[in-house]
Amino acid sequence: MTDEAAVPAAHPDPAAMRKHYRAEGLAETDLAATPVEQFARWFRQAATEGRLFEPNAMVVSTADAEGRPSSRTVLLKHFDETGFVFYTNYDSHKARDLAENPYVSLLFPWYPMARQVIVTGIARRTGRDETAAYFRTRPHGSQLGAWASAQSSVITTRADLEAAYAELAARYPDGEQVPVPPHWGGFRVAAQAVEFWQGRENRLHDRLRYVAQADGSWRVERLSP
Ligand SMILES: Cc1cc2nc3c(=O)[nH]c(=O)nc-3n(C[C@H](O)[C@H](O)[C@H](O)COP(=O)(O)O)c2cc1C
Repeated sequence: MTDEAAVPAAHPDPAAMRKHYRAEGLAETDLAATPVEQFARWFRQAATEGRLFEPNAMVVSTADAEGRPSSRTVLLKHFDETGFVFYTNYDSHKARDLAENPYVSLLFPWYPMARQVIVTGIARRTGRDETAAYFRTRPHGSQLGAWASAQSSVITTRADLEAAYAELAARYPDGEQVPVPPHWGGFRVAAQAVEFWQGRENRLHDRLRYVAQADGSWRVERLSP
């Protein structure tokens, strides 16, 4: 190891990074009747006023049967009162975790708005018809990519991946229907709790959490920031 490698290059000090959050808050009386309706309001604002690159990007955290956690970003593709849907490879690390332990957390990091939404719940695979309907809306190249990549497995070189893609592109030229990979599909996360976090001045943030009740209704509680 060289000396240069031993001394990290100068970088901005993260401890000195401090933003003042806006005063506009989130009150119990402003909340929608269900967390999905409230999510829809904030999602609309994130998509229109949020200056966010991908407001539908969310961090999915899973844990295996031994409780070992892991996190990664995926894209939300659909949401309604039945849950929040994303698509992935069913042989991936996250999907293997979910097969052993369906408890999951979804975190929407809407930093430019000083907002965060955290959904905790249970993930179940979407039906094949729903998966197929979504798969057909994907660009041809992404459809081939889903076949070409054995997601989360170790590969020797990038060239192997590109060769696999080129072979598929030759087999299914542009315009030809690509079958839905059996190892690919969606997960729908049914929420058990949804927390809406709004940054406020002096670290006195608003945190309002909907918690599912046995009768299907929602209780709202305020958490200390
Ligand atoms: C902005 C962004 C969006 C992503 N969207 C997805 C997605 O929708 N589905 C997916 O499987 N991976 C997506 N990924 C890649 C994942 O973060 C991750 O690398 C992959 O799913 C493998 O994760 P795993 O090995 O933990 O299962 C995305 C990554 C980023 C940065």
